[in-house]
Amino acid sequence: MTDSPQDLSPSAALYERAKISLPGGVSRNTVLRMPHPLYADYAAGCWVTDIEGVERIDFANNMASLIHGHAHPEIVRAVQEQVARGSAFSLATEIEIDYAELICARSTSFDQVRFVNSGTEAVMGAVKAARAFTGRPKIAKVEGAYHGLYDFAEVSQTSKPENWGNSDRPESVAVAHGTPSTVLEQVVIIPFNDPETAISILDEHKGEIACVLVDPMPHRVGLVPADTEFVHRLREWTENDGSLLVFDEVITFRTELGGFQARFHVKPDLTALGKMIGGGFPVGAIAGSRDVMQVMNPLTETVKFPHSGTFSANPITMTAGITAMRLYDESAVQRLNSLALRAVEGVSEAIGRTGEPACVTGSGSMFRVHLKPSLPRNYREAFITAEESAKLSVLLDHLSNEGFIMINTCSASLSTAMGVQEVDALVEAIGTGLRRLSS
Ligand SMILES: Cc1ncc(COP(=O)(O)O)c(C=O)c1O
Repeated sequence: MTDSPQDLSPSAALYERAKISLPGGVSRNTVLRMPHPLYADYAAGCWVTDIEGVERIDFANNMASLIHGHAHPEIVRAVQEQVARGSAFSLATEIEIDYAELICARSTSFDQVRFVNSGTEAVMGAVKAARAFTGRPKIAKVEGAYHGLYDFAEVSQTSKPENWGNSDRPESVAVAHGTPSTVLEQVVIIPFNDPETAISILDEHKGEIACVLVDPMPHRVGLVPADTEFVHRLREWTENDGSLLVFDEVITFRTELGGFQARFHVKPDLTALGKMIGGGFPVGAIAGSRDVMQVMNPLTETVKFPHSGTFSANPITMTAGITAMRLYDESAVQRLNSLALRAVEGVSEAIGRTGEPACVTGSGSMFRVHLKPSLPRNYREAFITAEESAKLSVLLDHLSNEGFIMINTCSASLSTAMGVQEVDALVEAIGTGLRRLSS
């Protein structure tokens, strides 16, 4: 017997309504959970209240995009002032120059920047800029790495044991049905943190590759930092080959003031940015060396990559973004990283106490709990089996019931709105959740 609408909770009733006008009842798959999504009412700092009145501490932060949590007073004030003066113009604005200067000052690899509206668009723009600069069609990317929805960048993001092929020559596997086979032919897949295999695969495509696209700590590949040797070998190979090294720092830019790349002392030619640099609003950016960025310069005789976007660099995003990044200074970065380290140590101890086969990865201000006995080193090792998936659901439900919002891989992305108290409470809840799994 099904519940009549009046028997349903407000969230369950909303979900029934949503399924009629939205495929699957959602606008993005990441908010889906069974039996229905949680529906947000309002939020402040690190607390979110849903429409049932339940308060939870937010460790998802809109998929790692809200570096200061929700409704930071300075961001709210700045955006309110700007929105009253106009939200988007067919004119340039001063704030986009101010923000471009701030972004460029953060890394020696950023001479210039172009703002766009999402991480997907930033990665797509970087790949197209690399093709335009090199005149080559192919790209190489890491198996399992998520870079957004662009056809080429998403290849092999969801590879499975039955189609991923040999580990020393991973297959190029389509994500969306109907992806043209020509896309797959243009994308070379390399394994993460295995420089020998990666270089031998790349060597088979010498002179054909526009760029090697790498996220220095890819979430779907296990949230494991890239090894210095892996990054250095890719930098060396691309330099010798005349191809570009493109970093996807849409998530990892939070790790250091100059992004994760600062840790390797390596200069990628281009970097895709997004998420936190929008201060809570939709954003992306392509930043890189002046000579490569020139492909987008409309003042050149042959514009190799004509680039535009209706809402790119809109003053609301620029205002929110610059306010957020001014607040995310060196001391804020270091405080957040120490807080995450405390969480990682706490979770490791909890795992040790429960004896549950689990481990924790991450760096900077993010971490991920894996229900595996040993630390994964690549996508295949991080792959969530059916058995692990069932246990993960139990753990995530437990954390939700205990008052925590997590990213659905059991990952956490911290915000500056948090302190020791919130982090210790999460660690405690993960411990009780793990004990529940082993009992
Ligand atoms: C590393 C990485 N690149 C790109 C994207 C795409 O960003 P967006 O969702 O803003 O399109 C994401 C989103 O999760 C991401 O994690």
